[in-house]
Formats: sequence, structure tokens, C-alpha cells
Amino acid sequence: MAIRKVGVVGCGLMGSGIAQVSAQAGFPTVVREVSPNALEKGLGSIRKFLQGGVDKGKLTPADLEKTLANLKGTVELADLADCDLVVEAASENLALKRDVFESLDRACKPETLFASNTSSLSITEISTFTKRPEKVLGLHFFNPVPLMKLVEVVRTLRTTDEAVTAASEWCRAIGKTVVSTGDTTGFVVNRLLVPYMLDAIRVLEQGLASRDDIDNAMKLGCGYPMGPLFLGDYVGLDTTYSIAEIMFDEFKEARFAPPPLLKRMVLAGRHGRKTGRGFYDWSTNPPS
Ligand code: CAA
Repeated sequence: MAIRKVGVVGCGLMGSGIAQVSAQAGFPTVVREVSPNALEKGLGSIRKFLQGGVDKGKLTPADLEKTLANLKGTVELADLADCDLVVEAASENLALKRDVFESLDRACKPETLFASNTSSLSITEISTFTKRPEKVLGLHFFNPVPLMKLVEVVRTLRTTDEAVTAASEWCRAIGKTVVSTGDTTGFVVNRLLVPYMLDAIRVLEQGLASRDDIDNAMKLGCGYPMGPLFLGDYVGLDTTYSIAEIMFDEFKEARFAPPPLLKRMVLAGRHGRKTGRGFYDWSTNPPS
């Protein structure tokens, strides 16, 4: 089954990027948000990114127009009914995802493949929210979606080869490199990345080194493009916290446990770039 038309649920940080790269690669793409305001915010960030690409000489004004013409925003899940693939990129909340997938299952044609962009929830559990578990898989993108080349393609014990092949071909068609992984919490990247980011917070918490020294150590000592605390802010400390909680719950290993400082920052509304304050102050350019 070839993917021709794509639906994306959620037009936040990840959903807007997924909808953008899909439309940019020529796929008619419908992106759904819960309210007109949230939708406008998401579509606005897509337009801003594309305009940034034009300003940098990475794409032409005609490419920008073609991408926007392939993109349709909606607040109705029913508008995704005839999509061949729907990628869900809603918040990391299982109850919310249950709601979305039950509704999608009722609304979409029987052949539609369902993917979740979850970073840490179980794709197998998500597949039980539908009557088509063999057509459910994980497509885990990375932030910023238009620039990061990887997609983790996650199959459960029940996902068919046809579904994996069709979804992987679509990922390649939108310019991504695919790695295949089984359905374990965190897949490959977060299994390795999350304990590293949590350890960086512990190093700060224990007073071993300052924020800037920790970030510079990893940037200049290991060649990472961003230090771990900057990356935490960039990904969102609320997201990092909820991924850590889910991973700790799954593996019961101390290295996945969210450090108290992370919890306090989330409770204090310091979620990083998205709230303007995290380990860094994001109201300045560059963040200070
Ligand atoms: N349109 C088109 N191209 C653009 C663009 C735009 N709007 N903005 C930037 N680019 C291009 C640039 O022109 C540049 O291209 P060249 O390499 O050809 O010159 C490239 O993208 C890089 O852009 P910049 O030079 O402006 O930025 P940078 O070099 O500082 O890199 C970054 C930015 C790619 C984000 C880099 O800092 C990076 O890789 N950071 C790490 C990000 C990361 O680890 N992400 C994963 C997070 S974890 C996650 O997402 C999973 C999870 O579940 C938590």
C-alpha cells in the first residue's frame, strides 16, 4: 500500500514539523489541532520556518507556496478520514492518546495506517485502542523535525510487514533515514539520551560544575552540537520529565528517575524554551 495522503494529529513542536516535511515532500497533508488558536499558532510556526529557509536561500518562494498549498489545517478529526497514514503527535498522555486513536479508528477508512510519534509510551498499548492493531506502528521524529534526519520506525509484535514497509517508504520519501526498532520504552535514542540528560542535571544539582561548564564540556569535549542542559531546555523540561517518569516506571532503574531539581523546575513552570525560562533565559538572543 503506497502512502498518498497524510494526516497529522497535533500541530505543536513535533506535529508542525511532521506536517511541514510531509507537505514539503509533495504529500497532501491535513493537520488537526484542538482549537483554531492552537492551529493558527502551529501553522504560523511552519510559515516562519519556511520563510527562514527562503531567507537563508535553502528554498525558493515557489517551494514555500507549493508546501503551503499541500497543507490543510483543521480542528475536525473527521477531516483525516481518507488519509493513508495518520501520524499522531499529541501530548505524552496515554488517556489523551486513547481518545485520539479511538476516534481515529471510527473516523478513518479501514486501510489507514496509524502511527504515533510518542517518545516513550508503548506502541503496543496504543495499538489496543484501535480495532486494527496490525496497522499501528511508531514513527518517532526528532526535534527540530525539518533538520533532524532520523525517524525510528517502531513495530509491535502485531504490526504487519506491509505496514512497516509502507511507513518506512514514506519516511524515506520525505527525506529521512530510518532505523528499525522493537517496542521498548524510549526505543533506541531515548534509551541512551535520556539518562545522559538526567545525569547532566544531577551533576548540576550536586554542585560538581556550573551550567555553562557542563554544556561546554560536552560540546567541546565530545563535539555534541548542544550541551545536555541546553538540549533539555530545547526539547522541553516538562517533556523530558514525563519521558523520564515513563521510563523509570517501565525499567525501575535509578538512571531513568527524574532528579528532584527537574521536578522542581517543571512545577515552577520553567519548561525551557517554550515558557521562556529553563536552565537558560530564552527571552534573550542568544539564550543567556
Ligand atoms: N529552513 C531550511 N534550512 C534551515 C533552516 C530553515 N528555516 N534553518 C536552518 N537551516 C539549515 C541551515 O541553513 C544549516 O544548513 P547547512 O548545514 O547546510 O549550513 C542547518 O540547517 C543547520 O542550521 P543552523 O546552522 O542555523 O543551526 P545549527 O548549526 O546551530 O544547528 C541544530 C541547529 C540542527 C538544531 C543543531 O544544534 C543540533 O543538531 N542540535 C541537537 C538537536 C537534538 O539533539 N535533537 C534531538 C532532541 S531529542 C528528541 O527530539 C527526541 C525526544 O523524544 C525527546
